[in-house]
Parts: sequence; C-alpha cells; structure tokens
Amino acid sequence: MAGNNSLLAMDSKLSMLFLLLGFVACSPTASHHDPSVVGYSQEDLALPNKLVGLFTSWSVKHSKIYASPKEKVKRYEIFKRNLRHIVETNRRNGSYWLGLNHFADIAHEEFKASYLGLKPGLARRDSQPHGSTTFRYANAVNLPWAVDWRKKGAVTPVKNQGECGSCWAFSTVAAVEGINQIVTGKLVSLSEQELMDCDNTFNHGCRGGLMDFAFAYIMGNQGIYTEEDYPYLMEEGYCREKQPHSKVITITGYEDVPENSETSLLKALAHQPVSVGIAAGSRDFQFYKGGIFDGECGIQPDHALTAVGYGSYYGQDYIIMKNSWGKNWGEQGYFRIRRGTGKPEGVCDIYKIASYPTKNVTGWGS
Ligand SMILES: *[C@@H]1O[C@H](CO)[C@@H](O)[C@H](O)[C@H]1NC(C)=O
Ligand SMILES: *[C@@H]1O[C@H](CO)[C@@H](O)[C@H](O)[C@H]1NC(C)=O
Repeated sequence: MAGNNSLLAMDSKLSMLFLLLGFVACSPTASHHDPSVVGYSQEDLALPNKLVGLFTSWSVKHSKIYASPKEKVKRYEIFKRNLRHIVETNRRNGSYWLGLNHFADIAHEEFKASYLGLKPGLARRDSQPHGSTTFRYANAVNLPWAVDWRKKGAVTPVKNQGECGSCWAFSTVAAVEGINQIVTGKLVSLSEQELMDCDNTFNHGCRGGLMDFAFAYIMGNQGIYTEEDYPYLMEEGYCREKQPHSKVITITGYEDVPENSETSLLKALAHQPVSVGIAAGSRDFQFYKGGIFDGECGIQPDHALTAVGYGSYYGQDYIIMKNSWGKNWGEQGYFRIRRGTGKPEGVCDIYKIASYPTKNVTGWGS
C-alpha cells in the first residue's frame, strides 16, 4: 500500500505543478483536426464528389484492390460509415482522436471477427497447469512516476498480426522479450509463430488464445525460438521439429497480476512489461490515432496487448500499450489509455486479465 500512496502523492503533486504553471489551459486539440494526422480535411467532407476523391486517394495509399465494382461500392459505403464515426468523435475534441487507417473499409463486425483474438473464456487462473498465486511485486514501494520500457531497450519494434486472431501470441512474446532483456541485457525478437503452431493444447492459433497458457507452454517447452528462426506467417502452420542447436529463450515461470487493481498493475509494470487483456471491440479502438484514450470499449476483454510503461501528460495519467496492428495504427503502433479513473476494472477492463513471465538471473539458456 505504501507504493500506492507514494505514487498517488507523486501524481497529485505533479498535477498541482501543472495547474500552477497554467499548462492545463493549453490542452492540445490540434491533432483532432489536423489532416496529416486524421487522414481527411474539412473540405473532403463538404461534397459527395470530394468524398469519392478521398476514398480513391485512401485506397491508393493503402494499396486496396477490390475484386469487382460491386465490392468497391460495398467498401465505399463501409468507408463512409466509418468516416462518419471518426469525424463525429473528433468533433468532440476529447483527450484522444481517431483517424482513417488501413481498417477504414472494414465493417466493425468483420473487424472484431478477424483482428482480435483473446479468449478469456478459456478458463484461466484456477485450472491452469503452472498457475501461481504469488504476486512478487505486492510490496513494491517508491514506484517511479513514469516508466517507459521502450527507452530502456526492452521493447522490440511494433509487429503486425494481420488478419489473424493471434494477439495473444504477440502479447505473450512482447512480455517475454521484455523480461529477457531486463535480466540478460539482450533484446531478442521472439517467435509468435511457434506459439501459433505448437502451443495448441488450450490455445487456437488465429482463432484466439490466452497468454497464461502460452507462458506455460514456453516453460514446458524449455524456451521459445527467435523470430528470425521461426518467422511469422499470419496463418496456422505445422509445428516444426526442435532443432538441437537453435537459440531459444527461456522463462522461469509466470504470475497473474491481482484482478481489478490498478496499483498492482503499476507495481508490476514498474518492474517489467506486462501482458494485458482489453475490451477492444469498438469502432473507437479500430480507428484510434492518438491521445489518451477513454472512449468506447467492447463488452468484455477480447484483445491482448502488452503494457510497456505509464506516465502523465498535463495531469492526465495513462498507461502505454504496445499493440500488434502495425506502425500505422495509433501512435506508431502504440496506444495510451487513461488510468486513475477510479473504476476497479479500469478503462476497457485493462485490470482484469494481466500477467507476466518471470525469469531467474541464472538458468537462462540461449
Ligand atoms: C473543437 O476544436 C475546434 C478547433 O479547435 C473548434 O473549432 C470546435 O468548435 C471545437 N468543438 C467543440 C465541440 O468544442
Ligand atoms: C528462481 O529464483 C528464486 C529466488 O532466488 C528461487 O526461489 C527459485 O527456486 C528459482 N527458480 C528456479 C526454477 O530456478
């Protein structure tokens, strides 16, 4: 609890400082309407033929090719509906903004079916093979007021899961890459594809999975291959035979972050990147472009990301998440989500399903 108090005290001191300096008054709104950020200008919206022009230039930019004129018309209609949502949301000048990205011709229902992939319904915690009830950071104190594992070299470049519900594998791998770098000093990109192909007792490749099962697989398997040795294919494949001399990265175990506890998540995150589930099935999430998100969520956790830091901007507290939808989505592939709202489960349920791998200093094979 001491950690909690000192963190909160720090945050409120900082907010006070910003207030005194008058920074709050200049809240940044330009990005909501900046065409280079949101992908459209107010003129584009003025006339129907301008809108067709916008769709055409967007299609070229994202190399969209449609099988038939009928398909193109269908995609244009979806594009218009998505654009309307983006424009309406940006007009509200909230703390986050949306933009036209490569998902703009995909209907929201299609999006949910193809680009997420967390399956929390796969019974977690109690029934898991190597489950641990330990939370090693429970007594952590004096947490830093901001943490960014990217700056400490513990985060590989943003990856892209593509049209495959493999977020669980990306979330797992990013957390393992993180702890491995923290313990060994080496940042090694690891294989999501191995998890997709080989970890199928409880997980289901492109059809979804859960990070804890994947951590258990890595433990049981005595390590995970590198991305280089076992690259991502964006589809389920056959599990490759183990090569005796391949480099593998091991973990010692994994632990769950206590549910519905922001303090616990921050304690863990102050020590290492953490895998988290999120209720991402919303249009706001599909088109998030930047800012501190506190918008529309899905109904339940259905996507997985990796928390890689936290901070505060003009007194607004957030958690930084690494996503796996490429660098064009969000803030160069990252997402900032509001914290400190008082909701136990957090914005979009981010405190519901969080866990992290552990790694002892000795006993790392590579
Ligand atoms: C949002 O910001 C724009 C540009 O700064 C301004 O013209 C508009 O009135 C604002 N809208 C709202 C709802 O505050
Ligand atoms: C890891 O380290 C902890 C603390 O030193 C020790 O208790 C534990 O047995 C170690 N686990 C393994 C698998 O080596």
